[in-house]
Amino acid sequence: MRLGGPPPRGTGPAGLWGKGGSATGAGVPRHVAIIMDGNGRWAKRRNLSRTDGHRAGMEALRRTVEACGDLGIEILTVYAFSTENWKRPRDEVDALMELLQEWIRKERDELIRRNIRLKVVGFPGRLPPDTRRELDELVEATSSNTGPILCLALNYGGRREICEAARRLAAKAAEGVLDPDTIDEEVFARELLTAGLPDPDLLIRPSGEMRVSNFLLWQMAYTELWFTPVLWPDFGPEHLRQAVEDFRRRDRRYGGLPGEES
Ligand code: FPP
Repeated sequence: MRLGGPPPRGTGPAGLWGKGGSATGAGVPRHVAIIMDGNGRWAKRRNLSRTDGHRAGMEALRRTVEACGDLGIEILTVYAFSTENWKRPRDEVDALMELLQEWIRKERDELIRRNIRLKVVGFPGRLPPDTRRELDELVEATSSNTGPILCLALNYGGRREICEAARRLAAKAAEGVLDPDTIDEEVFARELLTAGLPDPDLLIRPSGEMRVSNFLLWQMAYTELWFTPVLWPDFGPEHLRQAVEDFRRRDRRYGGLPGEES
């Protein structure tokens, strides 16, 4: 087992998120992370507003969740709002918060029907109180679902996550309840917001940008990266399938020799 504590188990691979029915091949990534980038450029090319772009991005998320089910992906983590996104114009931030609320209301029944467990990673304290309440309520309503996990990264930043984990460990050490010599990678990972989740196997970033932008910095130590020029609102099942196919051809060595794992 790698970092992050015991992985949560679903009730099985294919068909839990979406319509199901397709076979799950060996080597399908268990945990896929996506930076949903390119909404603004997509809108600009169509003379639409950035909000229209984000709304189209929301539709792409829905399609991707369904496609994950068909491929047997157990965990999907999506970067919906970063700790840096507050720097955007007020109107855009407000629109994103409204879209989030709309998403919670629209997707609620679907998540429950598909047995999906919703999880949030990030620092939700800064989100509007109503949105936070509805989000908490949906997380709770899906908490006993036994299927795949949809993890929303909201007001998330990898460096802040690592700093806060370090601060908590330091506080425990100062209180005398933790011996600093016992801090290893597993102990550290248990303090992260993703505690209990396995690390992502595959990171997808659309829109042609090739960086990780403060996303899951600790967790992505051995994640395979996959980039595409396709803008997020145009992303569909065919792109996810291609990413998974390419992933299956990768030789993951974790610092070892070719052909070895772990
Ligand atoms: C980056 O594209 C995207 C975001 C900052 C927001 C992602 C949000 C969604 C896809 C909306 C729906 C999701 C939920 C869960 C409500 P960008 O705006 O930086 O694009 P650009 O680089 O082309 O300007």
